[in-house]
Amino acid sequence: MSLENHEIEAVLDAAFGPDRHRRTAYAIRKGMLWLPEYSYAARDDAGNVLGVLQSWPVELRSDDGTATPLIMVGPVAVVPSDQKNGIGKAMMDRLVADTDLSAKAHLMMIGDPEYYGRFWRFLADDTSGWRAPGPVDPRRLLMRQVPGIEPLPRLSGMLAPRSA
Ligand SMILES: CC(C)(COP(=O)(O)OP(=O)(O)OC[C@H]1O[C@@H](n2cnc3c(N)ncnc32)[C@H](O)[C@@H]1OP(=O)(O)O)[C@@H](O)C(=O)NCCC(=O)NCCS
Repeated sequence: MSLENHEIEAVLDAAFGPDRHRRTAYAIRKGMLWLPEYSYAARDDAGNVLGVLQSWPVELRSDDGTATPLIMVGPVAVVPSDQKNGIGKAMMDRLVADTDLSAKAHLMMIGDPEYYGRFWRFLADDTSGWRAPGPVDPRRLLMRQVPGIEPLPRLSGMLAPRSA
């Protein structure tokens, strides 16, 4: 994604407000760099950024000591004046198409199941044993199995930045 950090910050400030850095999602991927191959910007004809989607390398540290790599999706954000115009859906469609083709890890996110479940089958069914380094509503802790890689069994453990 050809995108400057200040452009990302402007969209995130508009969509989530300046308090967003305290969110649990930031702690899960603390210190990581976003994955350019699975991160996107939507621009208008003048080149202004209307939406951003970033993905990050994270892992689930299981209670038995093993680590399962995951790709954390989000923030997904569209500027308020252009929400509900299909921009979020277009970015998510692209992410799912790209990750279905090439991702080596399953996807997770903290988000609205009414949106991410409805279109892309991000589900909370198998995340009940997952913990996070901050508060999280269990119904919003979602996973999407990437077809073509070994399905993830139900696991118990702590979400954390990718260690390897
Ligand atoms: C959530 C967000 C990314 C959705 O993107 P968008 O471009 O506004 O929405 P879309 O045009 O893709 O929506 C497509 C459909 O999903 C619905 N939808 C959008 N956001 C929804 C939500 N949070 N919950 C349920 N349905 C939602 C729309 O109403 C629309 O429904 P329709 O096809 O029946 O008319 C965007 O509204 C946003 O940035 N919101 C603020 C930040 C946020 O909460 N991000 C998500 C957490 S990471």
